[in-house]
Amino acid sequence: MQINIQEDYDAVCRIAAGRVAKTLYSKPNAVLGLATGSTPLGVYKELIRMHHDEGLDFSQVTTFNLDEYVGLTPNHKQSYSYFMWENLFKHINIPRQNIHIPSGTTDNYEAFCRWYEDCIKQRGGIDLQILGIGTDGHIAFNEPSSSLGSRTRIKTLARQTIEDNARFFDKPEDVPVFAITMGVGTILESRDIMLLASGANKAAAVAAAIEGPVTSMCTASALQLHRETLCILDRQAAGDLKMIEYYEWIQNKRPDAP
Ligand code: PGA
Repeated sequence: MQINIQEDYDAVCRIAAGRVAKTLYSKPNAVLGLATGSTPLGVYKELIRMHHDEGLDFSQVTTFNLDEYVGLTPNHKQSYSYFMWENLFKHINIPRQNIHIPSGTTDNYEAFCRWYEDCIKQRGGIDLQILGIGTDGHIAFNEPSSSLGSRTRIKTLARQTIEDNARFFDKPEDVPVFAITMGVGTILESRDIMLLASGANKAAAVAAAIEGPVTSMCTASALQLHRETLCILDRQAAGDLKMIEYYEWIQNKRPDAP
C-alpha cells in the first residue's frame, strides 16, 4: 500500500482528483469505480472544476458505482443515484448510457447482481476505483464479517453504519437496512484503487485497514492484498498510524509520488 498524508481534506481531494485526471489523460475511455458519501464530495467538486476550467473530458468514460440502498428509487433524495447525479454526473459530459449504479428497486436482485458483475467485465474491468472507509472499516457496504472474496450482492447494514448514515435522513428509522453492494472480491479486481479518509472519526478504521491484520472484520484491510492501492489521508485520519513517520519520510521520495 502507498500511504499519502495531506494536511487537510481539501488537499486530499485535490490529490485524488489529480489522480483521476491523470488516468483520463492516459486513457480517455477509462472505467471508473465511484463511491458516495461525504468523503468523495470534494473530489467530485474538483473534477467538475477541472471539466469546466481545464476541459477534462468524460465523453468516453464509463462509471460503476459501488452501492445503493435497497428500496430507494433513483429520485429519492437519499438514494446514491440521486447523490451521483446531483454531485457529479449532471455537471460533466458523461453519456448517460455509460453510467452504472446498482438498482435499489429491481424485482430480481440475484439476476441484477450477476448482470452488474458481467457488465463490469464486458467493459474491461475497473481502471481506477475510488473508495471511502466506514468507521467500522467497511469498503462499499461490505460490513464486518463480509467474505473477502464476495461479489455484488445484498448486504444487511451494520448498526454502526445505520447510525453513521442517519445524519442524512430525517430520522434513524428511515435509514434502509439493506443495500446492494459490490463485493470485496469485485473491488480487489480493480486495476488501481484509491482509498480516501478524512477526520479523526476515521483514524481507528484507517489504522486497522493499513496496519492491522487482513481480516473480514475490517474489510478495508483486504486492500493490503491489492498491488496498487493508494491511501490518501488527512492528518486527522492518519492520527492512529504507528508507522506515520515512515510513511511521511518515503512519501516524497517515490519517483511516482502523486
Ligand atoms: P463517508 O462514508 O464518506 O460519508 O464518511 C464513507 C463510507 O461509509 O464508506
